[in-house]
Amino acid sequence: MPGGLLLRGVAPNFEANTTVGPICFHDFLGDSWVILFSHPRDFTPVCTTELGRAANFAPEFAKRNVKLIALSINSVEDHLAWSKDINAYNGEEPTEKLPFPIIDYKNWDLAILLGMLDPAEKDEKGMPVTVRVVFVFGPDKKLKLSILYLALPSRNFDDILRVVISLQLTAEKRVAIPVDWKDGDSVMVLPTIPEEEAKKLFPKGVFTKKIRAGEETFKYFPLKKL
Ligand code: BEZ
Repeated sequence: MPGGLLLRGVAPNFEANTTVGPICFHDFLGDSWVILFSHPRDFTPVCTTELGRAANFAPEFAKRNVKLIALSINSVEDHLAWSKDINAYNGEEPTEKLPFPIIDYKNWDLAILLGMLDPAEKDEKGMPVTVRVVFVFGPDKKLKLSILYLALPSRNFDDILRVVISLQLTAEKRVAIPVDWKDGDSVMVLPTIPEEEAKKLFPKGVFTKKIRAGEETFKYFPLKKL
């Protein structure tokens, strides 16, 4: 399938109609982090649960200078009607207002540009299905993360928040993120940083873990002590 974005590539500056009016993507990005996530179609059950969860998580993302924007095939009118269902699913007033815009797209140009189409799965009109994509862009407008799911499994917004926090941490500090890391856990000091420099960079101290009986160690920085 042609199209698609490269990690560290600058986001395309596309124009689109959304539930909050027309946008130019670079203006929307501004100096924020942005999560662009796509959906196969409006009014479908899995997508409804995902957008409901995204709405619940919106304040957590906003606290971290992260904006959300969804994309689904169908028109703005459909998106607004669907937003009522999403709010109702969340136990809220069934209004058209969500804490993020939904991009309208009635043709496949944008999905092709962004590499969001399933090459094998077609809808009842024979058109390719848009898969569930998560793109995270940094304030420099460059792609920092890309995850593609087929249409049927759903995403996990706890994990999307976790990985965005990890991306922000690794952008700000010379650390790496160990397996199954959760916000507040210790992070790893980059193994390439010499001992003396690590002491200066992490003046509150690091601790080490042996990986075998020899001298090999990993250094950790206890994040909670920041
Ligand atoms: C859903 O969101 O429920 C869905 C989307 C595409 C195909 C099947 C289900």
